[in-house]
Amino acid sequence: MGKDVIIACDFPSAEQTLAFLDRFPGKKPFVKIGMELFYGEGPAIVRQIKARGHRIFLDLKLHDIPNTVKKAMAVLSGLDVDVCNLHAAGGAEMMRAALEGLTRTDGTRPLLIAVTQLTSTNQETLERELLIREPIAEVVMSYAENAKRAGLDGVVCSPLEAGKVHQRCGEDFLTVTPGVRFADGDRGDQKRVMTPAQAREIGSDYIVVGRPITAAADPVAAYERCCKEFIG
Ligand code: C5P
Repeated sequence: MGKDVIIACDFPSAEQTLAFLDRFPGKKPFVKIGMELFYGEGPAIVRQIKARGHRIFLDLKLHDIPNTVKKAMAVLSGLDVDVCNLHAAGGAEMMRAALEGLTRTDGTRPLLIAVTQLTSTNQETLERELLIREPIAEVVMSYAENAKRAGLDGVVCSPLEAGKVHQRCGEDFLTVTPGVRFADGDRGDQKRVMTPAQAREIGSDYIVVGRPITAAADPVAAYERCCKEFIG
């Protein structure tokens, strides 16, 4: 898998999502479907987008007991998505069960990546609420190593962490990074951001870009600019 730009399709309805994708005639961007769209429209929206020829990252962040995650992953695998994810906080046994569930009878499976710590969690939350005393950067790296040992393909992380994850877990271990903004763009609620060019420099494998593309006056031009800066 080479470098690519994944568009976060954070729309509330199938209608809005498909109308958005209709603006890309002849192009099939890699798309991310998150909880909002999936819970609103169900598996049908995944099938529809897949039938149009897009690759799909289904961002549902599973976290439950191993048996439940294994069975849920088997269902998601049947939807023929390209990438699924879960929370590394669920532990190694859960991650291994997820891989088993995802693996189809012919041995193929979607890529599986782990969320380490959400970027909405900070050091204070970690210490006061989760009772984790280690520095958050160390927790992220340690969870990434757990995911690697469990056999996963990579992690979702801040682009600021991508270089270090590669150092610790190897160049082949995928880093999928949101929090990307154009140098001249609006940051919105993202605090720690990087431009597509910086994300490329630091070694992100995939960037997940939402509003800089979805809310642009010309989404196709914004997508192309992103690809040019990130992939070259
Ligand atoms: O619109 P924006 O580019 O900020 O969208 C980023 C996407 O990546 C959203 O779908 C958001 O939920 C997701 N994401 C994130 N930060 C994380 C994990 C996921 O922004 N740590």
